[in-house]
Amino acid sequence: MATIFVTGSADGLGQLAAKALVYQGHQVVLHARNAERARHAQQSVPGAAHVIVGDLSDVDDIRQVAEAANAWGRFDAVIHNAGVYRASAREVFIVNTVAPYLLTCLMHRPDRLIYLSSDMHLQGRAHLEQLARDQSRVSYSDSKLYVTMLCMAVAHKWPDVYANAVDPGWVPTKMGGPGASDDLQQGYETQVWLAVSEDRATQVSGQYFYHRTATPCNPQAGDIALQERLLSICGAMTGIAFPN
Ligand SMILES: NC(=O)c1ccc[n+]([C@@H]2O[C@H](COP(=O)([O-])OP(=O)(O)OC[C@H]3O[C@@H](n4cnc5c(N)ncnc54)[C@H](OP(=O)(O)O)[C@@H]3O)[C@@H](O)[C@H]2O)c1
Repeated sequence: MATIFVTGSADGLGQLAAKALVYQGHQVVLHARNAERARHAQQSVPGAAHVIVGDLSDVDDIRQVAEAANAWGRFDAVIHNAGVYRASAREVFIVNTVAPYLLTCLMHRPDRLIYLSSDMHLQGRAHLEQLARDQSRVSYSDSKLYVTMLCMAVAHKWPDVYANAVDPGWVPTKMGGPGASDDLQQGYETQVWLAVSEDRATQVSGQYFYHRTATPCNPQAGDIALQERLLSICGAMTGIAFPN
């Protein structure tokens, strides 16, 4: 039995991944933005062990989520799933990129890290000097490029951890909307597989997966100079340097 933390598990792919992991007999800790959403998460995934509460658009709350997660213990796997699409540029950047950064830095190091990306990251562009000055022009695509870049940096810096990114496809959740054309089940199965499977194909790092298949990602994500600049910007914004 593995112990897994899933951010943003009150709804959508996070909730579905959590349910699948509980069904497989794993110990799952949920996460929700506030007490009301936490009650909803617990009711939706009744077999979950615990729910951690915190708004990932607020840096102080992100720190408290990390503290609460560490108080729970060390996780075998963490799925950085929470994300926003329709929000201010700053909120998109904080929730989609800074929260995974800070949780990665502050939480006890798990064996496996999974970061939810998107095929839209392919249209993202790293504007890091602009980003350092102001975060009001970050697009969703940019934020997903940055979280993919974070994943690749973790894979490079922490060889003892499997860190991989996942494109779930365009699937019909609250974010994807009812017209989404991809398969909902396949939208969460890859994260679950990467989190707990003993399959050798999961014992890799620095890969970007779509439907359990490693596929090429935006080359900017693998650029070490860009990775270092992104980590230093996130470090300056949060006051927490990336632990090498
Ligand atoms: N659906 C797609 O087609 C698609 C495609 C590519 C990538 N993705 C990525 O897949 C991941 C999951 O998306 P989804 O489709 O499941 O989206 P969703 O249905 O909107 O669910 C997102 C989850 O994140 C939580 N969340 C958002 N902002 C938060 C905040 N400030 N603090 C705490 N929790 C917060 C939400 O909480 P509430 O329920 O309380 O709002 C919800 O539980 C995201 O990272 C998304 O970018 C999705």
